[in-house]
Amino acid sequence: MGAMAVEAPVPRPVARALYEGFDYAAFWRDPARAHMDVLEHRLVERLLPRVGRRILDAGCGFGRLADVYVNRFDECVLVDSAWSLLEQARDRWASHVTLVAADLRAMPFATGAFDAALAVRVLHHFEDPRPVLAGLRAVLAPGGRLLFTSSNARNPKRILRALLGGEPWSPFRAGPISYDRHTFGWSAGELRDLVTAAGFRVRELRGVGVLDKLVAHVGPVARLVPPGVGVSRPLGALRLAPSLLGAAEVAGAGSVCPAPVLRCPACRVALVAGDAVFDCPACLRAFPLVDGIWDFRL
Ligand SMILES: C[S@@+](CC[C@H](N)C(=O)[O-])C[C@H]1O[C@@H](n2cnc3c(N)ncnc32)[C@H](O)[C@@H]1O
Repeated sequence: MGAMAVEAPVPRPVARALYEGFDYAAFWRDPARAHMDVLEHRLVERLLPRVGRRILDAGCGFGRLADVYVNRFDECVLVDSAWSLLEQARDRWASHVTLVAADLRAMPFATGAFDAALAVRVLHHFEDPRPVLAGLRAVLAPGGRLLFTSSNARNPKRILRALLGGEPWSPFRAGPISYDRHTFGWSAGELRDLVTAAGFRVRELRGVGVLDKLVAHVGPVARLVPPGVGVSRPLGALRLAPSLLGAAEVAGAGSVCPAPVLRCPACRVALVAGDAVFDCPACLRAFPLVDGIWDFRL
C-alpha cells in the first residue's frame, strides 16, 4: 500500500459518518463492559487463523481488536468511515497498520486481497448488510476467513419482552428488526442465511452477551469469573444469546493476490500510485494520504 511518509491534504466534502466524533473508547472504558471486551478478544484470538499474509478490519473503530492480529499478519489494513476513530487507531497502531477511510459498501481493494477479515459490531448498522457481505466476500481469497458479529433479534429475552408488549415488533416477523434508526437485528437463522448467500460457509456461531453482561452487576467479584469462551459455544448453537459472533470461510484454498491491491472504489479500475496519493486513470478521482490516513471516501 506504499509508505506513509509525505502528507498531501486535499480537503473535500464527505457525508458525516455515523460514529464521527463519538467517544467509542469511553464506551469500552466502562468497567461494566470489561468482560465483554475480554470475551470478544478471546474469541477473535481463537477463531482467526494463527498467521496470515493480509488482514482487513472492516469497521475497525479505534482499533480495539488490533492487539489480537498485529503480530499474526504481515499486513493489517484498518477501514472505517469515521475519521475521528481512525485518528485514534493511528495514534496507537500507525507503525503496524495501514489506515483507510472508506465506506464498507465501496472498499478500494482488489479481489482476493486478504486472507482474513473482521466485521465485529458492524453488520447491525446496516438495514441491508448484503452489499457489505458481498464486498467482504470479494476481497477475501479462496480459503479466506471472516469473523462477524450481529445482534440475535430472536433471543429468549427479546421474545419474552415482545410477548409482554415491551417491544413494538413481533419477534416472529421475518427480516431485519429495527431497534432504532441505525441498529438492526436478525434471527440467528437469517444471519446464517445472509452470510451463506454472500458466498461463505458458516463454520460456527458463538453466543455472547450473557455471562459477560451478568458479571457487570456483581462488582469486584467479576474478576474471578471466566470470560465465557466455553459457554459461548452452546449459547451460539442453541441460539440463546443476545449477540452472535460467527466464523465463516470462502470455499477453496489459495493465496492472496500480490500487491498492488488497490482499486478505485467508484469504478474499480487499478489505481496509479503518486506522491502520497493514488489516482484513478478512469474517473480521475484522487485518493490522498492525509495525516497518516488514506482517504478513499467518495
Ligand atoms: C460499534 S463500532 C465497532 C468498532 C470495532 N469493530 C470494534 O468492535 O471495536 C461500529 C464501527 O463501524 C463503522 N461503520 C459504520 N458504518 C460504516 C460504513 N458504512 N462504512 C465504514 N465503517 C462504518 C463505525 O464508524 C464504527 O467504527
